[in-house]
Amino acid sequence: MKTPHSISEYHDIYRESITHPEKFWAEIADSFRWKKKWDKVLEWDFNKPEVKWFTGGKLNITENCIDRHLPDKANHTAILWEPNDPNTPARKITYKELHEQVCRVANMLKAHGVKKGDRVCIYLPMVPEAAYAMLGCARIGAIHSVVFAGFSSGSLIDRINDSHCKLVLTADGAFRGDKKIDLKGIVNNAVEKCPSVEKIIVLERTKTPVDMKPGRDLWWHDEMAKVSDTCAAEEMDAEDMLFILYTSGSTGKPKGMVHTCGGYMVYCDYTFRTVFQYKPGQLFWCTADVGWITGHSYIVYGPLSAGATTLIFEGVPSWPDMGRFWHVIEKHQVNIFYTAPTAIRSLQTASIDFVNKHDLSSLQVLGSVGEPINEEAWHWYDKNIGKEKCPIVDTWWQTETGGIMISPIAHVTKLKPAFATLPLPGVQPAIMDEHGNIMTGNGIEGRLAMQFPWPSIARTIYGDHQRYKDTYFSTFRGKYFSGDGCKRDEDGYYRITGRVDDIIIVSGHNMGTAEIESAINEHSAVAESAVVGFPHHLKGQGIYAFVICYEKPREEEKLRNEIKETVAKIIGPIAKPDKIQFVNGLPKTRSGKIMRRILRKVAEGELSNLGDTTTLLDPNVVEEIKKGAH
Ligand code: WT7
Repeated sequence: MKTPHSISEYHDIYRESITHPEKFWAEIADSFRWKKKWDKVLEWDFNKPEVKWFTGGKLNITENCIDRHLPDKANHTAILWEPNDPNTPARKITYKELHEQVCRVANMLKAHGVKKGDRVCIYLPMVPEAAYAMLGCARIGAIHSVVFAGFSSGSLIDRINDSHCKLVLTADGAFRGDKKIDLKGIVNNAVEKCPSVEKIIVLERTKTPVDMKPGRDLWWHDEMAKVSDTCAAEEMDAEDMLFILYTSGSTGKPKGMVHTCGGYMVYCDYTFRTVFQYKPGQLFWCTADVGWITGHSYIVYGPLSAGATTLIFEGVPSWPDMGRFWHVIEKHQVNIFYTAPTAIRSLQTASIDFVNKHDLSSLQVLGSVGEPINEEAWHWYDKNIGKEKCPIVDTWWQTETGGIMISPIAHVTKLKPAFATLPLPGVQPAIMDEHGNIMTGNGIEGRLAMQFPWPSIARTIYGDHQRYKDTYFSTFRGKYFSGDGCKRDEDGYYRITGRVDDIIIVSGHNMGTAEIESAINEHSAVAESAVVGFPHHLKGQGIYAFVICYEKPREEEKLRNEIKETVAKIIGPIAKPDKIQFVNGLPKTRSGKIMRRILRKVAEGELSNLGDTTTLLDPNVVEEIKKGAH
């Protein structure tokens, strides 16, 4: 694979990649194990929209992530697992063991009636079994839908029902710092409302007593022991679905983004090697949860496809103390560390002694993902963690893109704090003005779109292709619209300025305001609500809710807490509003549309400059809202 070693090589490869894209991607795809080679590299039409890569190609991604590394890497560690409790020994899983475990999961699923094309929900803590589960599905062509184990039963119900999952893989519980989470209890509540679920297989992790329903619920260890440790890899078409992963939309229910086998595999592996400049033998640690796309692409598929050692960490950054990440880096001699700005900012608030008591000299490359990294956090990360010796790759991408799109290449791209810098070879961004024209030249700001497909672009929204078209391909004709604002500075460097739609990024997690509003409205005292983001010193963005009650609340604080709990119950604790302001009215246009622009200003504390309010139905509500702002 062509990977640039200098910035001039980067420019050469980049130019080549956009002049002859099919040749560029065919050369990269050639290094994988295909059961049958593709007939055509690319067929696409963004107006339809339709994108197909490597059509006619047949493969199984697990053969590329596991089998092709055998027997050479049989005893090489594939997964290094660091448990929640630092006193519990870490576990090393070799490529040979990974092969056995994945085959067993595959056989276990088959034994319970799961076939190619069936959907399986994975709701597990950060344990190696989460990776076995994903790969076990992929082995037999079942489609996994991983749900982040921090989501509550309401979110789980929506996701299971949207894609009619047949089986759920979960655990008796999850450890998170000093807390235990009752995963099986949450699943039990959820599946009462999920008629498609036939079986639940439960991994023993916390040994919490759980309710097991005879005939439906089974123990992971019992079932795994019954099956063989070899399983032929199902032949998959390059365009067959590999997985569904739900992400928030700016309106309505979460969107099940569909990723396919061939393109996703090629792009994950390519970006993993290119961006981090991964070298054989290095230990790679991505701190995301497998429930997010970052975990799919850069804990499981990318690193394993490259034959790397991937570290899976079960715990949290703040327990037993604020030095836990730095402790893990020293303990295992981590070489590449990939985390989120929100984690950096919260660890930055702790005493620097938590950092300095650990030897971080094994680190060679640092990464950031999930939201714009502010300059202060960037410099802290660079100075205290990288000791000014490690490049920081600020990687811009999305659940929809499947892999990193705009990012420095470690040791190659000259860095600029808070800039995602340059598109990877093969990626063709465009900055669009408000009239839908491409803005040319440098020193510009607009909306970020893509003019050309890349192999891991999500192919559709599960069960709703029209919504896929409306969300991503209708804003700018013939282009993929990311939903982000973006600048290109005088050097041609890209800087992402944040979402321009009704999605807020809280601690690097994508949340739709509409989804939070509908959860708030479930509280019996609430008549209506409007949610906006506001700058939050740790989370990047916080959640600010304006709430109209049927009656003037008597005990405001009590009601605030109840509303927060309602949201935690319906979506999950991450969606709890940080601030709730009770109001009598919301600023609406004459056609009834809430003017979020005004609410955003209030939430940001910019009360004096609210812009034009003349189109409001009742400008007086704004005065009242300003008085109650906090
Ligand atoms: C949104 C996508 C990428 C996997 C994790 C989040 C924001 C992501 C960056 C970055 C500035 C970023 C964007 C994007 N975002 N990375 N390096 N700099 N913003 O995936 O939940 O699908 O969210 O995260 O706003 O649209 P996601």
